[in-house]
Amino acid sequence: MSKLIIANWKSNKSPTEVVAWFERVQQQATEIDLTTVTPIVAPAFSLLSAASQPVQELGWQLAAQDLSPFPAGSYTGAVSARNIQELGVKYVLVGHSERRRYFGETAAEIARKVEQALENAFTPIVCVDEQSLVPQAEALTPALAKQCVVAYEPAAAIGTGNNASLETVKAFRTQVEERFGAVPFVYGGSVNEQTTGEYLLVTDGVLIGTASLDATQFLQVLQSALGKTPATG
Ligand code: PGA
Repeated sequence: MSKLIIANWKSNKSPTEVVAWFERVQQQATEIDLTTVTPIVAPAFSLLSAASQPVQELGWQLAAQDLSPFPAGSYTGAVSARNIQELGVKYVLVGHSERRRYFGETAAEIARKVEQALENAFTPIVCVDEQSLVPQAEALTPALAKQCVVAYEPAAAIGTGNNASLETVKAFRTQVEERFGAVPFVYGGSVNEQTTGEYLLVTDGVLIGTASLDATQFLQVLQSALGKTPATG
């Protein structure tokens, strides 16, 4: 399967910065073999429109960073699957540790987001760590669990430079497969252009925060994913 290289921009970037990021990518993204890697960009909800067309032109994929646990209706402030339906979104991140930590999201709520995603033909990318793996798997029916992509995101590795070892990632994958089945498995937490290639030896993809914000650096990550030494400068 093509490796998933997911750029999670979190709450960064203005609409103008999104346009500039894609202009930079379009100037430089000449040799990306899209049968080997699938670049996925996950901007904030309000930036999905700005990212939609350039993502399509590049043949990349678009992800939302979250989803309402409710369908379309009277839920002020929530963004439902219907709200983003025509923007070309294919994936939805759910249960990122920052959502659990700063917004108090529970495994049950995240399970409802997974349900909403799947009912609306989005592939959920469920983020888990050592603490949340078991409760999250238990909150999902096996039928739902086996349709997810699972992202291992150890909290101590996120944004710290303290990335998990390949052995740790490999061992966690076994635990994920025991709970979710043989689902696509990605790792996130301080991955960059130096380390992407190695992580792809034991995963189906990587989730990149900090190293995705600069277009040139993200392109170097993609080069690393393609097994090429990233260009310097
Ligand atoms: P990071 O973020 O690459 O900055 O560690 C990863 C993530 O939280 O998805």
